[in-house]
Amino acid sequence: MVQNEEMSQLKQQALVDINEAHDAQALQNVKVKYLGKKGSVSGLMKHMKDLSNEEKPAYGQQVNALRQAIQDEIVSREEVLANEQLEAQLRDEKIDVTLPSRQIALGAKHPLTRTIEEIEDLFLGLGYEIVEGYEVEQDHYNFEALNLPKSHPARDMQDSFYITEETLMRTHTSPVQARTLEQRNGQGPVKIICPGKVYRRDSDDATHSHQFTQIEGLVVAEDIKMSDLKGTLELLARELFGADREIRLRPSYFPFTEPSVEVDVSCFKCKGKGCNVCKQTGWIEVLGSGMVHPNVLEMAGFDSQRYSGFAFGLGPDRIAMLKYGIEDIRHFYTSDVRFLEQFKAVEDRGEEEC
Ligand code: PHE
Repeated sequence: MVQNEEMSQLKQQALVDINEAHDAQALQNVKVKYLGKKGSVSGLMKHMKDLSNEEKPAYGQQVNALRQAIQDEIVSREEVLANEQLEAQLRDEKIDVTLPSRQIALGAKHPLTRTIEEIEDLFLGLGYEIVEGYEVEQDHYNFEALNLPKSHPARDMQDSFYITEETLMRTHTSPVQARTLEQRNGQGPVKIICPGKVYRRDSDDATHSHQFTQIEGLVVAEDIKMSDLKGTLELLARELFGADREIRLRPSYFPFTEPSVEVDVSCFKCKGKGCNVCKQTGWIEVLGSGMVHPNVLEMAGFDSQRYSGFAFGLGPDRIAMLKYGIEDIRHFYTSDVRFLEQFKAVEDRGEEEC
């Protein structure tokens, strides 16, 4: 029968078209072409009129079977295409979780910051407050309120950067002592440390810089004695340079303390025998200090009969140089990452014992 011939050709062609459809849109076109209202399968019905009544039902069933067969092929092709698409997507978006991650460049704390924070931690633990002052300071607080009147020869020790006659870059953190005392209206106790930058006209060489850091300490209360100063500094020396350090006080002179002392720490490297770090003396000079001069107390409104105190000033630059074996103070201020990066290793290892 000619209709059968046509039907099987149509089926063959449909199968070819379905398999050649490589995406959902192409498959949809094939579907319309064969199964749509005006599609080829519907077109087969035009032969009905040429058939006898007996033949018609069988022919109708054959056409329906063909429609169903094509429909089934299309559905399975749809599944194949959907799978292919999913696989392609998975392939394209594949993440190799075994690849090494990108290194995030983490900074390290500046050695001076590390040293200052270490000292702050110690004193915060002892109940001190941290107070900050001004880098541009009045002559009054930098000198006069510290018992250094205008004509005082000791001003020469701290030759300075003046901004006007009465303002300068502070030459030490001691003005924070004077300012804080003044604010307390003659009422103790006062227990503060004051970290910050200071400036002096100085030759820039391996051990001198026109800008460096200091930490000031001040305690004013009733009945503060030199032994309190000594005990506090001993604690500080051991915190910074190791538990078996000793300290030594040598007479010195500062206009704002009386008596005044220079404080040495027994050498952490040779333990006192003599080496290059301590210049063969067994001792390393680390800070200046003394008992607060009664004039300083009185000028700030404190009754020097009732109150006494001690003060000290140390240089984190020098401490950090000693602790980390840094030979040139200028390394702290030139921001060379090759220098700074070394402290990342110190951080990774945790705080070192000297
Ligand atoms: N301000 C002194 C200096 O810079 C150090 C110091 C502070 C000394 C406090 C005694 C008391 O040299």
